[in-house]
Amino acid sequence: MSLTVRSFAKINLGLCIGPSRPDGFHELRTVYQTIALHDIIRVSVKRGKGIEIVSNDERVPRDASNTCWKITERAMAALKAQGRVVIEIEKKLPVQGGLGGASGNAVVALIGLEESLKKRLTGQERLRIAAEVGSDLPLFLVGGTILGVARGEEVYPLPDLPSMPCVIATPEIGVSTPKAFADWDKLTAAHPSDRIETFSRMISAWLSGQSSGVPVKQGRGRAETPLLDLVRTGIENDFERVVFPQYPELREVKSVLEQAGAIYASLSGSGSALYGLFRNRSTAEKAAAKLSKRGTPAAVTTTLTRQQYWGKFQVSSF
Ligand code: C5P
Repeated sequence: MSLTVRSFAKINLGLCIGPSRPDGFHELRTVYQTIALHDIIRVSVKRGKGIEIVSNDERVPRDASNTCWKITERAMAALKAQGRVVIEIEKKLPVQGGLGGASGNAVVALIGLEESLKKRLTGQERLRIAAEVGSDLPLFLVGGTILGVARGEEVYPLPDLPSMPCVIATPEIGVSTPKAFADWDKLTAAHPSDRIETFSRMISAWLSGQSSGVPVKQGRGRAETPLLDLVRTGIENDFERVVFPQYPELREVKSVLEQAGAIYASLSGSGSALYGLFRNRSTAEKAAAKLSKRGTPAAVTTTLTRQQYWGKFQVSSF
């Protein structure tokens, strides 16, 4: 049996970096949000053994360095399953970092594998294996608006922000995530940051506002208000402070998104992808056109609630 699924991308609505830990990772807090841009992944299990990765994009690694390979190896062992697993990756997402493309691919490969084998891991095993492969895999087992803590792999579903038009800009710049973390360490060496605690308080304040039943403010769209409430808490992406000075072009892209009417614009993860969230599709389309005109690749999409994420997940099975 083979299963074809959509592998959606994510953005980070704020990301706060804490101290580096004994294991070399950094403690962080972030709000992940899934978006509708996606790759297509097809998983099938055949007779024989081994893993085969096939892709329409030559930049996708076909060996054990591929996240899909890593997760399949672990899952086959945990499921005590046998067979030759073929994973076809139809790359549609931009390869620029910050959108969690490879991480999402791995998670849907795992789900596709389980379906193909008709065998299930427990929820805990899935999360453990996903977190072993990378810090931003587990979020794709939840979808929608998600709180990420620890090194980003500990995930909690948040009340979903309503689906909103979103522009994803993908400047042709490669940012190294480990280097961005190291640069953050240098920047904060003299004054260790207490932003982790502040960020946690901001999110708690937002959550209490969301559940307190305070009436929605007049004159604002329903989709807009929860996001504005979150933005007003002061969430921001700490990576901007080390990445923008090195790549001023990225700061300019953010300014273009803001000037074009984004309610909120930011670097996603350590970049180089940036996004802007908009009130309506036509403003988003104008912003994307403005970016394209200045030579910055940009696509219009929407954010996905948890229900939309899972509702649009499966393409076909046969
Ligand atoms: O977990 P992931 O493979 O995405 O991490 C890539 C690299 O980013 C890690 O090897 C580490 O250098 C850095 N990282 C970090 N702290 C985190 C997440 C990632 O220092 N919370």
